[in-house]
Amino acid sequence: MKNKKNIEDTSGFDNIVSLTKRRGFIFASSEIYDGLAAVYDLGPYGVELANNIKKEWWRVMTQLRDDIVGLDAAIFMSPKVWEASGHVKGFSDPLTECRKCHSRLRLDTLLEEAGVFADEKMSEEEINEIFSKNKEKVVCPICGATDFTPAKNFNLLVQSNLGNFTGDWQKEPVYLRGETCQGIYVNFKNVVDTTRVKIPFGIAQIGKAFRNEITARQFIFRTREFEQMEMQYFVKPGDDKKYFDFWREARFQFYLDLGIKSENLRWHEHENLVFYAQAAFDIEYNYPFGFKELEGIHARGDYDLSVHAQASKHDLSFFDSQTQERFLPHVVETSAGVGRTMLAVICDAYKEEEINGEKRIVLSLAPKLAPIKIAIFPLLKNKPELVNKAREIFNSLKLDWRCEFDDNGNIGKRYRRQDEIGTPFCLTVDFDSLDNDDVTIRFRDSMEQKRIPLRELKNFFQNNI
Ligand code: GAP
Repeated sequence: MKNKKNIEDTSGFDNIVSLTKRRGFIFASSEIYDGLAAVYDLGPYGVELANNIKKEWWRVMTQLRDDIVGLDAAIFMSPKVWEASGHVKGFSDPLTECRKCHSRLRLDTLLEEAGVFADEKMSEEEINEIFSKNKEKVVCPICGATDFTPAKNFNLLVQSNLGNFTGDWQKEPVYLRGETCQGIYVNFKNVVDTTRVKIPFGIAQIGKAFRNEITARQFIFRTREFEQMEMQYFVKPGDDKKYFDFWREARFQFYLDLGIKSENLRWHEHENLVFYAQAAFDIEYNYPFGFKELEGIHARGDYDLSVHAQASKHDLSFFDSQTQERFLPHVVETSAGVGRTMLAVICDAYKEEEINGEKRIVLSLAPKLAPIKIAIFPLLKNKPELVNKAREIFNSLKLDWRCEFDDNGNIGKRYRRQDEIGTPFCLTVDFDSLDNDDVTIRFRDSMEQKRIPLRELKNFFQNNI
């Protein structure tokens, strides 16, 4: 190996954000029109990474289990869903306004930044009381003033005029869903009636959710449009604790299996609970701006099925034909964000190294998450025999793995580009390849290179991706 050493403390957040833009992972939405606050687009490598995360979640949560089925409910739902669920009344954050610069900010975040304990789940009265005792500590991050209005609850549901042609749609808005799980609860009976599921069982769903977040800083950590991977596990009343503990452990393991370092993950138990929860634990990741929520695991009791049964006047109870019992199932929920998982795996994988006096940036992503698994290079662009051979290899490997063909620039630069994208393996076709039917394989993390016969390639990748 070449003279390689890690550069300490350079993996600042700005460098990571800059890499994601420079290498086509994440773009600000509508950037040519100056963007839209707190909304982001996924670029060519970002969409591959997000798809790999979702594929892995779906595989672990559905394919590898015989007690979880999938669902894809629509984003738009009857507004009655959100009234019954409690979101129209209770889904809010404490909004305060800086009296000097008129910025609107979240009081819980400002208190937290001032080192005062507060969280979004506190009532308006609770948080204002804490605020009144700590007024001088709360500083406006925009202008530095310490003069704020008392907090008011600001509802986070995003409204639309779907299907309303009268012009006064605000009176009867249709909401963009604030969490995907409501689509699961309202389809609970449909799933029970049309499949072979028996309690305990789960319904899994991946999809977009929307929230009118007051302050959306920290890049893709908190956005107004985001994707959730949620699973609702329906259990017999009384079995909640057993399955809550089971899912806590399983979900923590999921992140370790994605390759995230264990020291960057921890638990946070909520003392103040959101309106639907009986118990709530967050898995937190150590982002460059501190440990923050990556996923929530919630014991929701029979809250959701009970409010929807009441409001819709449909019986949502479950009849267990074995025990001849009828009951309203309780729910254990696992709720993760695709964007937050992406940001966690990128931050965890980001490394800056010094190689013979030059900086090398590497994304050491687990091969199963890497946007591109194998890059294939002809040594020289102007030698058709090398280009054709490399194309042949690309055409054969692309049937099984996401590959990239690149014949541009010198080999060193091509390697560096793939390092920054996180490609675990690069193959180079040179003149010896034509005689020996082999290629040079170069490993992203160790930068080790060795020759490998073409006939062994598929087997090698099957074992290593
Ligand atoms: N159904 C329960 C629920 O939605 P939550 O704690 O509000 O619970 C679950 O959200 C997960 O969704 C979070 O842990 C996070 O990963 C993701 N999430 C929530 N709000 C988000 C936002 N504004 N931007 C990005 N991800 C978000």
